[in-house]
Amino acid sequence: MEFLSAYLLTPSSVIVALLTVLFLTHQSWTHLSRSKKSYQISGGSSKVDDTYNLVVSKEPDVPEGWWSSREVFELERRAIFSKSWLYLAHVAQFCKAGAYQSFDIAGFPIFLTRGKDDKIRAFHNVCRHRAYTITRKETGISTVLGCRYHGWSYDTTGRLVKAPQFDGIPGFDKSENGLFEIHTHTTDHGMVFVNLDSGELIPFPNSTASDIDRFASAARLGSKSRWLAGQTLTGTFNWKFGMSLQYHPVVADQLEEIVSAAASPSVATKFLKFIRQHSSKAKSHIFPRNFFYSFEDGHFWISLSFIPASESTTQVRYDMFGLSSTTGNNEGELTNSIAEAIKNILQKIETEFSSVTPGSLDSSSNTSQILDQLQGHLRLEKKNGSQILPAMRQPKGSSLFQQAEQLCKDIDCAGSGSRSGSGSNGLDW
Ligand code: FES
Repeated sequence: MEFLSAYLLTPSSVIVALLTVLFLTHQSWTHLSRSKKSYQISGGSSKVDDTYNLVVSKEPDVPEGWWSSREVFELERRAIFSKSWLYLAHVAQFCKAGAYQSFDIAGFPIFLTRGKDDKIRAFHNVCRHRAYTITRKETGISTVLGCRYHGWSYDTTGRLVKAPQFDGIPGFDKSENGLFEIHTHTTDHGMVFVNLDSGELIPFPNSTASDIDRFASAARLGSKSRWLAGQTLTGTFNWKFGMSLQYHPVVADQLEEIVSAAASPSVATKFLKFIRQHSSKAKSHIFPRNFFYSFEDGHFWISLSFIPASESTTQVRYDMFGLSSTTGNNEGELTNSIAEAIKNILQKIETEFSSVTPGSLDSSSNTSQILDQLQGHLRLEKKNGSQILPAMRQPKGSSLFQQAEQLCKDIDCAGSGSRSGSGSNGLDW
């Protein structure tokens, strides 16, 4: 004991004890700081400086501008939508070669199309001549997609097959002016994902693949689904607010109201099952903006996507599918009722969103994942010294293209004077 007392009172033991206390105090302070859940996103120019951070401030808010800031939305475009795997559609929505569907994902116009080889490919919906839109309708079928302005045409693999007046121009190479293709991944169950990152292929996340497998198994999806109906609706709310759909009791209440007001008992029964399935295993939330639900004992399933159009506007795309063996009983009635239900839900979300305050909590399970992704991207930009937009494309051989374009203008080819374009065949948004 004497030995112990002597040891404890030596100068070195006192220093060790003091260092230990200081270390523990520092750890506790760091932990407390990290546990606060309020952030502020600052820095809005393309140049990144020291103020460009998610700043911890007070508990328990979400970042300032979370629901309404243009700056946050722009960061989400760079940090999430231009480099995450995004679910867009199911192969059943593309009935034959040339079938296409257009999307606008946070300001990135893209389209999916089915090739003659049955492969679903994704492209930026931007003509390589002067950046006009190629597919102007939301859906359609055409194995050759022509740009209406000067007649450039592309096949379902994105290859430029026709460029009137350009063929004889020295330096112009069709093979360098095909559509910009986007990475795609089609799951065994036919779900089509895209990743807009122009760099190397980012592996499809195992966690997403597992979630899809789990849902497909619980919903008894199989590999064959029939597309029954779908629609894109527009809502005036932030996309992240829509993603908290399943956590809003008021939305469930709204569904119950719809059920009780349903036109016929059979539809009401189906809706009750639908609601029950909301809390069953046969549902899935896929980061960052999708829900899948199955109901009617796996005979039907729905994909619901919240597609940001701006910081305050969201496009809501829903598609309803049936298994190939399902009979047509009540399908029309059910799809109409679900369309009506989703419209009502959107109205409810809009009403709720209109009363959201800047500091309102985000109850979505997405929040921490979104924050992690935003913070990680900000760190990259800070290191880089400027903003990084992974979806940006730079055309190859642009100098030859410019020479050809100049020659074309000199001879006023293809009515190029009729309408001015962006003057660039690249995508720099
Ligand atoms: S042909 Fe498409 S912009 Fe000219």
